[in-house]
Amino acid sequence: MHSVGSDRDQNGSKPRPEADRPLLAVLRGERRDPPPIWLMRQAGRYLPEYRALRAEKGGFLALCYDPVAAAEITLQPIRRFGFDGAILFSDILVIPQALGQDLWFETGEGPRLAPPLLDGDLSGLIADATILTPIYETVRRVVQALPAETTMLGFAGSPWTVATYMVAGQGSKDHSAARSLAYRDPVAFQRLIDAIIAATADYLCHQIDAGVEAVQLFDSWAGSLAPAEFRRWVVAPNRRLVEELRSRRPGTPIIGFPKGIGEKLPIYARETAVDAIGIDETMDPVWADEMLPSTLPVQGNLDPLALLAGGDGLSGAVGAIRAAFAKRPHIFNLGHGILQQTPVSHVAQLLAMIRA
Ligand code: CP3
Repeated sequence: MHSVGSDRDQNGSKPRPEADRPLLAVLRGERRDPPPIWLMRQAGRYLPEYRALRAEKGGFLALCYDPVAAAEITLQPIRRFGFDGAILFSDILVIPQALGQDLWFETGEGPRLAPPLLDGDLSGLIADATILTPIYETVRRVVQALPAETTMLGFAGSPWTVATYMVAGQGSKDHSAARSLAYRDPVAFQRLIDAIIAATADYLCHQIDAGVEAVQLFDSWAGSLAPAEFRRWVVAPNRRLVEELRSRRPGTPIIGFPKGIGEKLPIYARETAVDAIGIDETMDPVWADEMLPSTLPVQGNLDPLALLAGGDGLSGAVGAIRAAFAKRPHIFNLGHGILQQTPVSHVAQLLAMIRA
């Protein structure tokens, strides 16, 4: 079937050239030395070129839905530092928007979602998944421009973390609105979680079809739940997403990032069956290495504040993490997103340290 454009798949995007992609190799279970490296929030406010584009385009959300700008921002840290992974520039809160909530960002405060779903009832909202289509165009643009050795990462928020924002209508310290609803009306809360799972699975499948090679599930607030609720609202929904993606798009590695879960790490790893696990900076890497299966790729876990501070503290922390994970597939990363005040020179030093 040699028609014009036969090198394109049904989405109109060109397949990427065959190349050794170290990050993808590690996600598939290989160990590489030095470890591949990327940083959560590597595209963003610590970069002057990001701040310039944001000022020009008039705000963060406008950037997320502008494929030309979002692709450029995704590529900025790749050009500057040559990270092994490029992460799609978007946000976890586009899923609530697709489910019908209004989303905006209050300057200096954070996200706002309206109406808040304090009763977990989605029935008053009009879902519209077509608002997400510009994001798939961003992916197609990035993969056309990406160096052959760089892995393209997609992502979504995990259902619990997304639900904490949807219920409260904003960020909150202890996530009490969502936790209370889950106790008070678990049936309604399950319906909300189910709707997020369905929308997220479709969203990630579209990202994969557009060219994403691995995905990360951000469960930033997984640490706020009691053990039984943790199993029900963190483990089970992530597992369902993993099962769904594996059956619909087999072979795409899935990184789980359950921030702040401490001693629940082995349960999460075993029961969600993610392909790789991200750990935050509060976790002892020696302990994590002992507790996790020796073949499971681990990502992390430098303290973002150590990167901000730089100097001897930084090199010491980097050495300790690499030593702890010296025998397993390891992806170097932060324990959470890079801080806005981080000097660009410290990021360059970190890469030089890892690749020396
Ligand atoms: O990692 C990347 O570079 C890819 C892009 C990305 C963003 N947000 C861009 C962003 C990713 C993967 C996220 C994930 C995200 N978003 C999470 C999970 C990870 C985490 O940090 O815990 C959460 C909870 C959100 C929700 C969100 N988005 C909040 C609470 C905020 C406001 C707080 C803040 O840092 O300003 C955002 C805004 C946001 N998302 C920015 C960026 C670059 C800042 C936008 C700006 O002011 O320019």
